[in-house]
Amino acid sequence: MALIFVTRKIPDIGIQWMRDGGHEVVVSKKDGVLTPAELRKELAARPYDGIVCLLTDTIDASVLKAAPQLKIVSNYAVGYNNIDVKVLNEAGVIVTNTPGVLTDTVAEYTVSLILSVAKRISEADRFTRAKKYKGWAPELLLGSDLMGKTLGIVGAGRIGSGVAKRLANGFGMNICYHDIVRSEVLEEEVGCEFCASIEELLQCSDVVSLHVPLLPQTKHLINEERLSLMKSSAYLINTSRGPVVDEKALVSALKSGVIRGAGLDVFEAEPKLAKGLVKLDNVTVTPHIASASEETRGKMSELVGFNINEFFLGHDAPNKV
Ligand code: DGY
Repeated sequence: MALIFVTRKIPDIGIQWMRDGGHEVVVSKKDGVLTPAELRKELAARPYDGIVCLLTDTIDASVLKAAPQLKIVSNYAVGYNNIDVKVLNEAGVIVTNTPGVLTDTVAEYTVSLILSVAKRISEADRFTRAKKYKGWAPELLLGSDLMGKTLGIVGAGRIGSGVAKRLANGFGMNICYHDIVRSEVLEEEVGCEFCASIEELLQCSDVVSLHVPLLPQTKHLINEERLSLMKSSAYLINTSRGPVVDEKALVSALKSGVIRGAGLDVFEAEPKLAKGLVKLDNVTVTPHIASASEETRGKMSELVGFNINEFFLGHDAPNKV
């Protein structure tokens, strides 16, 4: 039996799985993100063998110090930029994540954000609620069509490919993509074109959708210079990680018409938004909820529990990063 700490309440199913697996599971009582000091205090209170953490928890050397018995960190997210994997692995601690179960949900959500900005849905909603609608008009809130336009996918992994398939097959978009590895399978399936450089992709796309992990190499991948390469009629969509975009540069590009609009589910300094962002009508902002369907958040919970149970049964930890 292992002793597991869960840093914040998650859907019950995974907690139940761990308990059914014979483990003692302690869930943080705080209805919010533990500060680093609170997390260290919780961990130092008992000899925890495992942690289930969220993308809002920073798991680094200081956590190891507070929990010297730690053997596994099971992240309730597919992205794991919140964890210093190298430091943990060097100390013999395994790190797992939740890939696969959220792919369709995030891909669907990304399509929704694209539609929201291209069809000006959130802007039109604000307009109507503000009682500005005075009757049908030929040029009221004109948006853009997607059919026949080019979608540029940056990062053609599971989610990026899911977005490409949906928009190629369902909306008749032409797809191009940029990635560090070329995917002939995707090219065949979607009939999409590989761009050897991100610059090439930015120049030819009507919608650019970001699906890269946050790494030192992808921080501010989209900066002022690269924004200036985009078409002035183009939209930028980010459902990956906020710091992939230089948000200050984006605000100024949106203000000055360098690009037409943006759909953002993630932000550089979450939960804070860059100065001026919310004042802009050509942007849809949502609070990091791309994977937030009832089904998927439940499956993510199952998977963190499964990762813990398998590991303590002595099997190779599934979904080890
Ligand atoms: C992830 O899993 O990385 C998402 O950002 C949250 O589900």
